[in-house]
Amino acid sequence: MRSLTDSLEGDRRLSMLKVINVVGARPNFMKVAPIVDAMKRREQQFTPLVVHTGQHYDAMMSDVFFRDLDLPKPDVHLEVGSGSHAAQTAAVMEKFEPVLLAQKPDWVLVVGDVNSTLACALVCAKLGVKVGHVEAGLRSRDRTMPEEINRLLTDQISDLLFTPSQDADENLRAEGVAAERIRFVGNVMIDSIFKQLPRAKESPIRQALAIADQDFAVLTLHRPSNVDNRDTLERIIGALEEISERLPIVFPVHPRTRRAIAEFGFGERIERAKGLRLIEPLGYLDFLGLYSHSRLVLTDSGGLQEETTVLGIPCLTLRENTERPITVEMGTNTIVGTDREKITTAAFAALNGSLTSNRHVPPLWDGNTADRILDALQES
Ligand code: UD1
Repeated sequence: MRSLTDSLEGDRRLSMLKVINVVGARPNFMKVAPIVDAMKRREQQFTPLVVHTGQHYDAMMSDVFFRDLDLPKPDVHLEVGSGSHAAQTAAVMEKFEPVLLAQKPDWVLVVGDVNSTLACALVCAKLGVKVGHVEAGLRSRDRTMPEEINRLLTDQISDLLFTPSQDADENLRAEGVAAERIRFVGNVMIDSIFKQLPRAKESPIRQALAIADQDFAVLTLHRPSNVDNRDTLERIIGALEEISERLPIVFPVHPRTRRAIAEFGFGERIERAKGLRLIEPLGYLDFLGLYSHSRLVLTDSGGLQEETTVLGIPCLTLRENTERPITVEMGTNTIVGTDREKITTAAFAALNGSLTSNRHVPPLWDGNTADRILDALQES
């Protein structure tokens, strides 16, 4: 007679799902890694494939993340590379379509808000292949951000919308999205932090930079609205000069930003600011090993606002808005914009410990989001 476990195994086998997991740019890798990992663990239920669009391609913008996050090598690489928004989005679509036709997956998962996210979701929608959007429902309400357009459109055309926080559910409902398409699953990036933190603590990065724990700040800056505009970038650099006199700032520089600094002739000025230390982009483990020991983070990234909230590190966001308001309401994030004085005032307040922060970890940012996504796929 078959045992109960055997028959459950049998039922599970019946619902084996083949899933294409799309990655394209740096902020995608830490979201997809836990999902693929969980699918491999649940091998009776899932056959995962990884498709890399090649939107990011430098070793330090891509390859290192596969190693650091134990992400299997892509099954398919579209090698799209850089280009204008239209050219890049179109190239991903053109190259992804034949892959989808050949592989015939049950589901495609896209994550985040980069051009590859929208491009692949759109190909799925046109071919009638089911697509799930992980990190759905976030809204900055700033349509000059390319990511905001990607978010709005991807959510409109995806079959299942996996949200990281309940404000995202509200945004979707306000846009008329039916409740049965929305699944509040939590923040999958936090799965990666929890899994990798012990390894990241072993990173030699702080020793290599000769900095003591809690005695430095970390900066990231790459938004076109900040770095492609000379005046804005100059205001930010002015603030950094001032802050770095009091606390060294380690700045792993995104390729876009390095190009802008050279183009606008800010290189020498930055060189003179001795406390401002520009370094090459870091991999996942070194970067986590760095900022998890910092006293303050300054950033215009989306993900880092969430990562600092979970780790309880004060974060100043150098933007006028955020699509992640929960990091301000519950976490350690403060939106400071790009005004020089506002940035320095907030930084000194943070260093004096007078920025109040509730330091709550938002609901379901618990390291188990990937499994909730897989459960939802099984139930759909
Ligand atoms: C993209 C995402 C952004 C994300 C960011 C993280 C969109 C619209 N934007 O912005 O949401 O926060 O990734 O980095 O999808 N480059 C390299 N090497 C690379 C990749 C890019 O040198 O491996 C340079 C190229 O000059 C390229 C420029 O960076 O033109 C911008 O790359 P792109 O992918 O267009 O946008 P990001 O600014 O990286």
